[in-house]
Amino acid sequence: MKPAATTSADKVETLRVELGERGYDILVGADLIARAGQHMKPVLPRPRVVVITDETVAKLHLTALTASLDEAGIAHGKIVLPAGEATKDFAHLERLIEELLAQRVERSTMLVALGGGVIGDIAGFAASIVLRGLDFVQIPTTLLAQVDSAVGGKTAINTKRGKNLVGAFHQPRLVLADTGALSTLPKRELLAGYAEVVKYGLIDDAPFFAWLEENGPALIAGDATLRRHAVARSCAAKARIVAMDERETGPRALLNLGHTFGHALEAEAGYGGSVLHGEAVAAGMVMAFDLSVRLGLCPAEDAARVRRHLASVGLPTGAQILGPAGWNADRLIGHMRQDKKVKDGRVTFILARGIGKSFIAHDVELDEVRRMLDAAAAA
Ligand code: NAD
Ligand code: GLY
Repeated sequence: MKPAATTSADKVETLRVELGERGYDILVGADLIARAGQHMKPVLPRPRVVVITDETVAKLHLTALTASLDEAGIAHGKIVLPAGEATKDFAHLERLIEELLAQRVERSTMLVALGGGVIGDIAGFAASIVLRGLDFVQIPTTLLAQVDSAVGGKTAINTKRGKNLVGAFHQPRLVLADTGALSTLPKRELLAGYAEVVKYGLIDDAPFFAWLEENGPALIAGDATLRRHAVARSCAAKARIVAMDERETGPRALLNLGHTFGHALEAEAGYGGSVLHGEAVAAGMVMAFDLSVRLGLCPAEDAARVRRHLASVGLPTGAQILGPAGWNADRLIGHMRQDKKVKDGRVTFILARGIGKSFIAHDVELDEVRRMLDAAAAA
C-alpha cells in the first residue's frame, strides 16, 4: 500500500528527553490531538485515561481528543476545571483529586492534561500525589505550554504567598504538542508564548534567534511549518537542558533568563491578567540584556537587537508594561528579594555576554540594578 502523502506541514518531529527510565518522547506536529489515542497506546499500562482540561479548551479541542481515544479503544473519563491562573490553587487541587478518586482511578490509570500551563501544572501535581503517583501525558495547547511548561516535569500550584510554591518534579510519560491547536489561541496568548521561544535563541542558540528575526512575523501570522520548527527547536533545547540538570541545581537556571525581572513585574502587576507571564519575560529579557550592557559584559548592539525584535512582533520591552506610570525601581527590587531563587540573601540573575551567550550570575550588585531600572524608566 502506498503511504499517505505527507506535506511538510503534516510532518511530525519526535524528540526525546533523556532521563533514563523516566525518559520520554515529545511529538511536535499538526493534528496530533486527533491521533492522540494511537500515539498514547504504547505508554498506557491499561487502556484507561482521565482527561483533565479547562472550560475553554474543552469547547475547542476535547471532542477531537475523545474521538481519537474511542477510535483507539481507550476508555476515558474527564474533569473540566475553570480556565485561568486562579485554578492553580488548593481548592481546585482538592476538587480535582476528589473527582479523580470518585472516578476510581487506579495506579494504572493515565491522566491526560489537555490545556495550557495552568492545566499542565495542576494536573501534573495531582498526578504526582494521587495514590502516591500516577503517570500522565501532557497535551499542551498554548504556545507557552508547548515550548516550556509541558516539558521538564515541574508541576505546581500557587499559594497566598506566591506562585508555584507547592509542587513536585514529576515527569510526563509523553508530550503531544499539537501545533494545529495554536490556531484557536488568542493572539495575545500566542505572543506571550513566543517570548519563551525567543528565550531559547538568547540562551545559547544565536542562529535560532537570527532565524526568528527573519521568520517570527510569519510564524506568528500562522505559518504551520514555521510554527512546528520553532516549537520543535524550543523543545529540543529544553529537553537538552533538563536532561543535564533535572532538578535545577545548575544549568537549568538558564531557562530563567528574563524571569528575575519578569517575576517582579508580574508581582507588581498583581497576577490579575493585566500582564501575562510571557509579556513579563519579554520585558525581563530586555532588562537582563540592558543590565549586561551596563556591567560592560555585552555589546550594546546585541541588547538593541533583542529589544527591536520583541517590539517588532508586538511584545512589551520596557516600563510601559505596567501602564503609563511605569515602574518604581525599589518596589521591583523588593519583589526580586522575595523570589524563591534568592540564595543566601543574594538575587540570582541570568546575564548575557551577547545573543546566545547567557550565564548565571550570583554576584550582581542591586545598586547597579536600581540604576539600570531608573534609567530605563526615564527613557
Ligand atoms: P493558561 O493555561 O492559563 O492558558 C491561557 C489561556 O488560553 C487560558 O484561558 C486557556 O483556557 C486558553 N487556551 C489554552 N489553549 C487554548 C487554545 N488552543 N485555544 C484557545 N484558548 C486556549 O496559561 P499558559 O500561558 O499556557 O500557562 C501559564 C502557566 O504555566 C502559569 O501558571 C505558569 O506558572 C505555568 N508555567 C509552568 C512552567 C513549568 O515548567 N511547569 C513553565 C512556565 C509556565
Ligand atoms: N520554566 C523553567 C523550567 O522549566 O525550568
